[in-house]
Amino acid sequence: MNANVLSCHITTDTVADTFGADVLNGLSQLPKRLHAKYFYDKEGDKLFQEIMACPEYYPTRCELEIFRDKTAELANAMITGEAFDLIELGAGDATKSQYLLQYLVDRHTAFTYMPIDISGNILSELQNRLETVMPDLSLHCLEGDYLEMLDKATALSSRRKIVLFLGANIGNMEPREAVAFCRSLRERLQPGDLVLIGFDLKKHPRIIRNAYDDSAGITAKFNLNLLKRINRELNGNFVTEQFEHYQSYDPMTGACKSYLVSLCDQQVTICKNHFNFRRDEVIYMEVSQKYAIEEITTLADKTGFRSVQNTYDTRRWFADVCWEVV
Ligand SMILES: C[S@@+](CC[C@H](N)C(=O)[O-])C[C@H]1O[C@@H](n2cnc3c(N)ncnc32)[C@H](O)[C@@H]1O
Repeated sequence: MNANVLSCHITTDTVADTFGADVLNGLSQLPKRLHAKYFYDKEGDKLFQEIMACPEYYPTRCELEIFRDKTAELANAMITGEAFDLIELGAGDATKSQYLLQYLVDRHTAFTYMPIDISGNILSELQNRLETVMPDLSLHCLEGDYLEMLDKATALSSRRKIVLFLGANIGNMEPREAVAFCRSLRERLQPGDLVLIGFDLKKHPRIIRNAYDDSAGITAKFNLNLLKRINRELNGNFVTEQFEHYQSYDPMTGACKSYLVSLCDQQVTICKNHFNFRRDEVIYMEVSQKYAIEEITTLADKTGFRSVQNTYDTRRWFADVCWEVV
């Protein structure tokens, strides 16, 4: 179907090389798939901010409520009097963590904030904003993939580490990938270090599905934007009008999945590689996995952590869980 995937040299830039290789590999699989981490170019960052403002998209508001109203509960689990590095994986615009940062700065806590993000665009916006609104904050931004940058962050100092992984980003991993990821996190940390992870909880299936299928069609645009990014950065020729967003949620497994459906038989060329799509064939774009609280505690136990504290929003739709490395 597609010719000579590996011979395609996209550019000398490593990040773009990886993007190209991942896209060509993903579209060579059956079913075809694309990786969600590539959603976040400049336009993707903007669309994600619009998604967060959609009335149906509850996860941001739930976690924001936790960070705004239960800041002391979150911070008290972290403060021991010992200086620490506060490392945030996939920080984005740090809207939620900013409450925690302000709380810690106001109490003259000794810490350095290290946001990690694959999007250099969002990271430089974040840096500019934090330098203005929190001039006393010790800040070190790291652009790149979660674990690669966590390795860099842990090499920078021997201070205690507290890792934030918010926004239910962990839900963008299949459950077995989440287990492997938590084990990888554990390997990079020391006993006594903490992680604070945001999980979206199982709830009425319709509420969940609607959150990823908003009536204004922003989530659809967000998914289609990745095809536009491929056209622009990898010399592709997707006709985006010939693909449609489709969302599913399976309450049995907790998997909420996004797809793009091909509306006709068509061929797409990316950097001289040809991909045939049948009408109604899907590209699997993203999972947003939902958890029961018991499943989260089991995940901690299985991966070398001890569950310390679960903090919920008032509706108990979302939980930020604090785990200690054992
Ligand atoms: C869904 S947003 C959440 C942002 C923020 N944590 C929040 O809760 O609002 C995901 C963020 O993670 C970043 N991201 C996604 N995959 C990543 C990866 N593999 N490594 C580093 N950053 C990643 C994206 O660029 C984006 O800014």
